[in-house]
Amino acid sequence: MSVDQKVIQKTGRRETILLEVENLRAYYITEQFGVAKEVKAVEGVSLSIEGSNFLAIVGESGCGKTTLARVLYGAVGSSLLVKEGRVRYRFGDQDYELSPTKNTLKDAWWKKISCVPQGSLSALNPVRRLRDIFYDLTTSHGVAFDEEKIKSHLEMVDLPSYVLRAYPFELSGGMRQRVVIALATFLNPAVIIADEPTSALDVVTQKNILQLLSDIQAALGSMIVFITHDISLIPGLANMMAVMYGGCIVEYGLTESVFTNPLHPYTRFLLSSMPVIGDKTERKPIPGSPVSLIDPPEGCRFYPRCSQGKDVCAELRPDLVEVDFQHWVACYLYR
Ligand SMILES: Nc1ncnc2c1ncn2[C@@H]1O[C@H](COP(=O)(O)OP(=O)(O)OP(=O)(O)O)[C@@H](O)[C@H]1O
Ligand SMILES: [Mg+2]
Repeated sequence: MSVDQKVIQKTGRRETILLEVENLRAYYITEQFGVAKEVKAVEGVSLSIEGSNFLAIVGESGCGKTTLARVLYGAVGSSLLVKEGRVRYRFGDQDYELSPTKNTLKDAWWKKISCVPQGSLSALNPVRRLRDIFYDLTTSHGVAFDEEKIKSHLEMVDLPSYVLRAYPFELSGGMRQRVVIALATFLNPAVIIADEPTSALDVVTQKNILQLLSDIQAALGSMIVFITHDISLIPGLANMMAVMYGGCIVEYGLTESVFTNPLHPYTRFLLSSMPVIGDKTERKPIPGSPVSLIDPPEGCRFYPRCSQGKDVCAELRPDLVEVDFQHWVACYLYR
């Protein structure tokens, strides 16, 4: 069987899907008390993922998840600059690329790569009925407006067709999030980047939305990049995961492998902070405070909080190294 046939079987799509990120650095250019500063929000991120995988990116608030999502989507410019590295997608025989000098990802928006941005519950235009919002989406992408097709898509995301007559403010939070997901998936994108799509929702609605993302992945054969600060949402949902700390990916791999054998000291802290029903052992916070992204340490960004650090950790930032099957870690404990 050729490689292409294998990928088609895996994704259920007629095209291959490949996402490659190489040594990506993306910084905000900002000003503090009149002095120009760089916020080093994404530092040396590399990963490669193929086919209809469900990748979760997890890390504490402010570690750079949304910035990475923006760069993966190609929504850079103004204050967010790609300093080095590149993001490359391949869909069948079409390539799209983002680098410091090039951004063709915008050509793929909605049809190939779509995004559910953080805080998107309030992203819908409040003075447009949903029918008009779908009309704008389809006609601006050269797709004929077909109300029946939209209704059946709404059915897939479990929304009644009467929502087309509604204004966004007339819907509950869970319904609005479903609408945003329906819009993001309507043109059958190959990659869907969902940034904290459930963080403003109650736990029951949250579970339903996550199930919906999983169903969409199965139905469309898309790759999902799911961003969350809550590691407990990942098992049973994402088959691959990346742990982010201070703008860097410190551990990456098969979710099962990371959960059963967490390697990076930060991943271990994250996992030990997960609540377990009936477990009364005291949960210990991670010592120290989150790293400054304006003035980060030279070496490993977790070093100032790590109890197992060595001299080399202070000097040189470790790269991700594969230490087990499809399981990479950026830590000198494993060299
Ligand atoms: N427009 C901006 N200008 C300057 N700095 C920014 C900007 N947006 C974010 N930052 C900074 O970049 C860093 C990474 O922010 P980012 O929003 O990517 O984190 P996050 O992991 O998504 O956090 P959260 O879990 O709270 O959403 C933070 O230090 C943040 O303060
Ligand atoms: Mg964020």
